Amino acid sequence: MAITKKENVFKLDTKNTSYLLKITELGYVMHVYYGAKVEDMDLSEIYPYRGRAFSPNMADNPYSDDRYSLDTLPQEYVGSGCSDFRAASVTALDQSGYNSVDLRYTAYEILETKPSLEGLPSTYDEKGETQTLAIHLVDELRKMKVTLFYTVFAEKDLITRSAKVENIGEDSLYLEKAMSVCMDFPASSYDLIQFHGSWANERQEQRSKIAYGLQGFSSKRGTSSHQHNPFCIVCDHETTEKWGAAYAFGLVYSGNHLLQVEKTQTDEVRLTMGINPDDFGWKLEKNQAFDTPEVMMIFSNHGLNDLSQIYHTAVRKHICRGEWRDKQRPILVNNWEATYFDFDEDKIVDLATKAKSLGIEMIVLDDGWFGHRNDDTTSLGDWFTDYHKLPNGLEGLSHKIKEIDMKFGLWIEPEMISEDSELYRKHPDWVLSQEGRSRSKGRTQYVLDFTREEVIDGIWEQLDLVLKNNPIDYIKWDMNRHLTEVGSLMLAKDCKKETYHRQVLGVYQLMNRLVTSYPHILLENCSGGGGRFDLGMLCYSPQIWTSDDTDAIERLSIQYGSSYAYPLSCMGAHVSAVPNHQTGRITPIKTRGDVAMFGVFGYELDLARLTTEEQDIVKKQCAFYKENALLMQQGKFYRIQTPKDSSYAAWSVVSEDEKHIYLLYVTIKGRANGPQKVVKLPYANYNMKYREVESNRSYYGSTLCHAGVLIADVEQDYQSQLLHFVCE
Ligand code: GLA
Repeated sequence: MAITKKENVFKLDTKNTSYLLKITELGYVMHVYYGAKVEDMDLSEIYPYRGRAFSPNMADNPYSDDRYSLDTLPQEYVGSGCSDFRAASVTALDQSGYNSVDLRYTAYEILETKPSLEGLPSTYDEKGETQTLAIHLVDELRKMKVTLFYTVFAEKDLITRSAKVENIGEDSLYLEKAMSVCMDFPASSYDLIQFHGSWANERQEQRSKIAYGLQGFSSKRGTSSHQHNPFCIVCDHETTEKWGAAYAFGLVYSGNHLLQVEKTQTDEVRLTMGINPDDFGWKLEKNQAFDTPEVMMIFSNHGLNDLSQIYHTAVRKHICRGEWRDKQRPILVNNWEATYFDFDEDKIVDLATKAKSLGIEMIVLDDGWFGHRNDDTTSLGDWFTDYHKLPNGLEGLSHKIKEIDMKFGLWIEPEMISEDSELYRKHPDWVLSQEGRSRSKGRTQYVLDFTREEVIDGIWEQLDLVLKNNPIDYIKWDMNRHLTEVGSLMLAKDCKKETYHRQVLGVYQLMNRLVTSYPHILLENCSGGGGRFDLGMLCYSPQIWTSDDTDAIERLSIQYGSSYAYPLSCMGAHVSAVPNHQTGRITPIKTRGDVAMFGVFGYELDLARLTTEEQDIVKKQCAFYKENALLMQQGKFYRIQTPKDSSYAAWSVVSEDEKHIYLLYVTIKGRANGPQKVVKLPYANYNMKYREVESNRSYYGSTLCHAGVLIADVEQDYQSQLLHFVCE
């Protein structure tokens, strides 16, 4: 049984973790414990109630002393304004104008099927392997009900949480804040690991000590953003990659988010995660409900690598879905960095023909095939072929691509509209905006109002026509600006603050139409690279373009940072030309390939410009990837040496059956007459003997673990080795 109840205590057990909560005498849901598996049901002795000066006591405090205060009680989901001065989980205004919330337990249920969330993507359980605890709380005065959901994926060490807020009164209720999760950690010394960035520089890890007061990160950009990924790790200050306790929290959501940690006056830490309450509001009429996005939570007692590996499996099996989830993805060539907007049918067919001869399996036609788009100032919203560029239409082009036995992929950016487009001339009011306020442009474009059904329908009709009439195997769905002057003309005055969230629901709705109508299509999400690399998007697209920065050296830290949460099967990674278009750096094609191979592999350059020697290397890269991609993507990923402030980076993958080990070593800064480079592989299987394929040298597993392997020919800047050890 994953969920047990004894008296007023609930216990959620996974293979290696336990989560305990308790209903107190006054009906508050007390957080008791989350961590490595424990047997006891009752831990009250360890975490007793404790009074503090200036921590007020509830009016119905059952004790004669001051020990019962919400301010000192670890809780699961917290109302506001009633003696807890830490961050609230939920606040709501009713017709009285008051917004305090006091939630008390009324009932619980244990559900054998995982409930879905209204309009939101969430984790799924295809094998009936979960149990869900639903805890019902009510504020009688505010006429508000909150149900807390805890789904336990016992075998995967995964627990998910979300909350449903309902109006159980006659009058409308106005939600001002509704977070997905609150977690109160006991007093200790913790670190927060977060993943910040910018365009072309996504998911850079930052580890900091959780200090007194508030810290955290957020997005107010309308998307999850390049700037702050909605994922974090809280770990003991001493935790390393190989050792120690760590918790991961990931929000299954693609819009504005907030993660806050707060170290209290007495050293506890409260974590709150969910939709950013800034610019959020939601009106609930009688009997209406609001679902918060889900949070995926994982605990490991064995360091950050172990935490990531558990997380990767959960993402691969319970977030990603559809025909492509476990399938080997085709090696693609994308024409963006090869031609930008300057292409015609011949150029694309030539690129495809060359690609085919090297072992590449799919060509992706990027931006510029529609309307009259020759640069980024026009035509978004006009999803019909530009016959000047493609005189035989997409049909003619895709037919030629099929004749050379290649798959065909296409770029779209459905959420956007250019001022210079037929769509805008017809529907200028389809833009997200606030009446009377001029509209800011981003990349010279506006954002369509996806809170409106007719706007989504209008875009879908066009896309559907393209997909119906052409043999399209893959779609790259892009999103190239963040949201400003956010408002929908159609929403009532007191519902305008719903726009941000409704916009995200609209995007999900359109994506859902695409993947359900065309389930064979491989969808790759993109937002100026990895600007929307989140669990929400991964519910529709099993892979995401990791970054617009294709420089192999910069990619090291981007992919390294991404690996804390996201498996290799989600990370689009391409070999591009040198000098690199973003950094001007010149790196060997071997290094570019070696780095991109630890992701969903492809190319993004004019292949005809490669030397014969380079083309031979490309052929070998394609052959290697076809043979090993699945083993790598489904294996265990180990971070070995961070590229940050280091002269080299290293990481490794051990296949599920431990018979294959892949090790990547890249020199970032060469050193003349430097030390020998030896890397230990502590994850090799002791009982196996391995052979390194290229050198044909044999090693015992124990040798790889303790003595390591000597890496040759990596003295100079940007040289790399990808070693492949196979069990003999
Ligand atoms: C974004 C994407 C790129 C490319 C361009 C096209 O920046 O991240 O890969 O598709 O748009 O405009």
